[in-house]
Amino acid sequence: MSTRVRTAVFPVAGLGTRFLPATKAMPKEMLTVVDRPLIQYAVDEAREAGIEHLVFVTGRNKSVIEDHFDRQYELESTLEFRGKTDALRELRKDLPSAGQTSFTRQQEPLGLGHAVWCARELVGNQPFALLLPDMVFKAKPGVLKQMMQAYEETGGNVIGVEEVNPEDVSSYGIVARGEGPDSGFEITGMVEKPKPADAPSNLFISGRYILQPEIFNLLSEQTKGAGGEIQLTDAMQILIRTQKFTGVKYDGQVFDCGSKIGFLTANVVFALDRPDISKDFRRALAGLDLSISDER
Ligand code: UTP
Repeated sequence: MSTRVRTAVFPVAGLGTRFLPATKAMPKEMLTVVDRPLIQYAVDEAREAGIEHLVFVTGRNKSVIEDHFDRQYELESTLEFRGKTDALRELRKDLPSAGQTSFTRQQEPLGLGHAVWCARELVGNQPFALLLPDMVFKAKPGVLKQMMQAYEETGGNVIGVEEVNPEDVSSYGIVARGEGPDSGFEITGMVEKPKPADAPSNLFISGRYILQPEIFNLLSEQTKGAGGEIQLTDAMQILIRTQKFTGVKYDGQVFDCGSKIGFLTANVVFALDRPDISKDFRRALAGLDLSISDER
């Protein structure tokens, strides 16, 4: 029996330079897809997967994330007074229960691997989920829930992967696929940003992980890797020598909302799928006379 995964880590201490000036005073994770902040999508996905303890690794300017997951009495009583009970119910539904959230600081943005390492005391000696909040998924059930199903059978480390165009592999962490079905196959290796000719597959690591706590020891020994940052993939490449890694080619699609194109696309796709606005949004788009082609 594999140890149950109760804790999820959300690294939210990056600088978000690709979204300046929006991210000068506001964290990237509070950008919205339609009307929900990116971090809310990740938290919803974790709670759907049965996560009970939410650990946020924050940085400067990130206290607004803490406020977002807190009660806002003034707002709540105003909504109540005005009879906006639906909005009030939605606000309360989005909130984790008291005591379920923990916050720690990454004092300097030294890379994703370093951000994860900053969570070591709050996670302790147990497996944990890791969700990169700028990666937003359209998936049912949620991607982490699909990965949990694989984890229950395999234990060890589990990584969510998705197909990418073979010519784009050099932008991503790519896994080498061994035996097993899409719902849980052996990962035999991984490589960060390979040249297309060197890529072992076109399956990229899209921002959802279940990791064993031994990763923390490896991260503590890490020196700076690609881009001068402490990289998670470097530590995973060492861990795979001694621990099992399972890949899940989940049912769903990722939108990289840390990039402008991914973010804008996600807004269109999620808006078109929202029962409350979809019809009006379609009408508004149709009225724009967009003769879209990929040439201008
Ligand atoms: P990104 O690679 O998207 O980096 O981080 P970034 O700094 O946020 O954004 P750009 O590239 O400058 O535009 C992926 C995730 O890891 C977190 C980010 O907050 C994001 O959720 N992260 C990254 C940290 O928490 N700390 C870091 O040092 C780096």
